Amino acid sequence: MKVLHVVGARPNFMKVAPVLKALATRAGVVQVLIHTGQHYDRSMSDIFLDQLGIPEPDVNLAVGSGTHARQTAEIMTRLEPVLTEQKPELVVVYGDVNSTLAASLVAAKLGIRIGHVEAGLRSFDRTMPEEINRLLTDQLADVLFTPSADGAANLRKEGIPLEKIFLTGNVMIDSLVRLLPAARALPANGWPERYALVTLHRPANVDDDGTLKEILSALIEVNDQLNVVFPAHPRTRRRIAELGLHTKSLRVLDPVPYLEFLALQSRATVVITDSGGIQEETTYLGVPCLTVRNNTERPVTVTMGTNVLVGRGPESLRTELSLVLSGKAKRGTVPPLWDGRAAERIADIIVGQFSNPVC
Ligand code: UD1
Repeated sequence: MKVLHVVGARPNFMKVAPVLKALATRAGVVQVLIHTGQHYDRSMSDIFLDQLGIPEPDVNLAVGSGTHARQTAEIMTRLEPVLTEQKPELVVVYGDVNSTLAASLVAAKLGIRIGHVEAGLRSFDRTMPEEINRLLTDQLADVLFTPSADGAANLRKEGIPLEKIFLTGNVMIDSLVRLLPAARALPANGWPERYALVTLHRPANVDDDGTLKEILSALIEVNDQLNVVFPAHPRTRRRIAELGLHTKSLRVLDPVPYLEFLALQSRATVVITDSGGIQEETTYLGVPCLTVRNNTERPVTVTMGTNVLVGRGPESLRTELSLVLSGKAKRGTVPPLWDGRAAERIADIIVGQFSNPVC
């Protein structure tokens, strides 16, 4: 059988890597990898492929940036002839980025079955572009692989038939488990002994001038107590420059490669973020995570893990940071099936469900 994977943005790469690897060991499976080019900077893409051991994509659609409509449309236009030519039995899409939805729409209209890895996550906040991508992708998918029980419950409530839903665990944690020893072996490289690791890129946080200003001044306040190390997404860097904001003593860096970022996370005193995946990685690592959002599509990181939602204002960030600094940070446990074997379970299901060999 032919399985065609579509990825495009940084958080897709750590999810596709273990699935590619697991399917490569299954007899009769031919794999094709398409990179949409949604992320194109070396620091956001190639370095991740290298470190994760992902083979050179068979096709790079090189769509680049654009408004949501333009980027989504461009991916669809460029992907359609590739799918028509490749004729896969299954298209596998990952997460909730524009590439995920665009590829699902094209495959669905060509009558090609779709597998969605990381299905069922919901923030219930439709102002997030990712929430729109999640909702629509899950409606189109034929096999839905969820990382946690809440994902499966959300899908059932939306009327997705039970037989399409598989609780397989968290593939992002598969990559983490595999590469953590290599990350831990990296030298500390002059990092401070104790630090707050910060990432920010959500449109709701960085596109609104007032919100971004407020968050940066809260971080400057954090920096008085704990060194702030801030690898900034290109979107965030550009916004800071556009607004002429001072980052003062904050250590603002370019995006950091996967292994270095894992090392930074595993040694951090606390992580302050608005990312989705980082909420999960910190839960696995047992590192306190303060999420600068009002909601999360990953509630298990709050109910079981180390994650605390601090909203966008400085008050709750201040309170939670002082708990961390006084050794009273929330402790957590690792959710079920976040064990490094999720991709193996996914590969078993794919082979079991779509076992019409092509050759
Ligand atoms: C995307 C995903 C988001 C994910 C994030 C991780 C969507 C809707 N959003 O957001 O879910 O958490 O990736 O990084 O798909 N840019 C560069 N270089 C790059 C990529 C982007 O400079 O390699 C700049 C572009 O100028 C663009 C901006 O970043 O304007 C946004 O890029 P885009 O891919 O649209 O979304 P992200 O904000 O990266």
